[in-house]
Amino acid sequence: MSRQFFDYKGTLFPCMACNAEDIAFAENEFQVRDDDIYNITYPKAGTTWMMDILSLIKKNGDPTWNKTVPNWDRVPWIETNGSVQKVRVSEEQPRLITSHLPRHLFVKSFDGSKAKVIYTVRNPKDVAVSLYYFAKMTSFYKDPESFDEFVKDFLTGDIPYGSWFDHVKGWLEMLGKENFMVQTYEDLYKDPRGSVLKICKFLGKELDDKAVDSVVENTSFQFMKENQMSNFSLVPSNYMDQEKSPFMRKGTTGDWKNHFTEPLNEYFDKIYKEKMQGVCMKFPWEENL
Ligand code: A3P
Repeated sequence: MSRQFFDYKGTLFPCMACNAEDIAFAENEFQVRDDDIYNITYPKAGTTWMMDILSLIKKNGDPTWNKTVPNWDRVPWIETNGSVQKVRVSEEQPRLITSHLPRHLFVKSFDGSKAKVIYTVRNPKDVAVSLYYFAKMTSFYKDPESFDEFVKDFLTGDIPYGSWFDHVKGWLEMLGKENFMVQTYEDLYKDPRGSVLKICKFLGKELDDKAVDSVVENTSFQFMKENQMSNFSLVPSNYMDQEKSPFMRKGTTGDWKNHFTEPLNEYFDKIYKEKMQGVCMKFPWEENL
């Protein structure tokens, strides 16, 4: 079998989705524009959700773009095969750009720019569950042997895009900067309208009530699950087999409780506390830790 992942400066990437040349170009040569808006996430934190929210905000609540153009063309990943060259010449204003890159590998020209970053973060236990099912359905990842083994790899960071902890801690170093905002999946889930308003404020975008309603309605789980431009059903089944598990799977918070055994949960909490020591931000999932 051909190799599944390659190593770029100590972080693994899936061979089917990325290549070292494009990542190096994104990191070292890509030119950020001050009006760029970056949708940054660790995989499974709510990337796709934020793609659709940003698209709708950009179009003042008009859903036509979301309904006619695939999300990867509206808010392209910078690090996936061939994408960086398309984004480089894009005439969109502003450009909406997605990335899973860890902070230390992110576009160098971003430093000192006014470009805005929305960093979406989700309970890592729910990320692990979501990623487990994703790994089963996509050829980008290795098919996990068991959930417990998968969670152990997740905790060591021996998976594409590296350790969740390093990703989060790396990006949170930007806390307090004017051009950086953290959005939790949990807050988005609990209060979508309030979250959309907060995002609009951060972006300096004023939408009337009707437009905000449209953003919320057109980014509901059910709507996105049925929208071919958002649910990845246009991706051939040899890349994503949605018969095995749909991309838009459950779209909820706390599904980890249906998957973690008590010992695995205790082990996870122990590692979490060790690794997140010194992080000043408090997250909604930390209440019971
Ligand atoms: P689940 O597997 O837990 O259902 P990403 O886009 O970062 O790959 O994350 C995918 C996860 O976000 C999946 O989680 C998916 O169902 C969820 N998701 C996508 N759109 C959503 C929405 N509108 N509302 C709630 N969850 C959503």
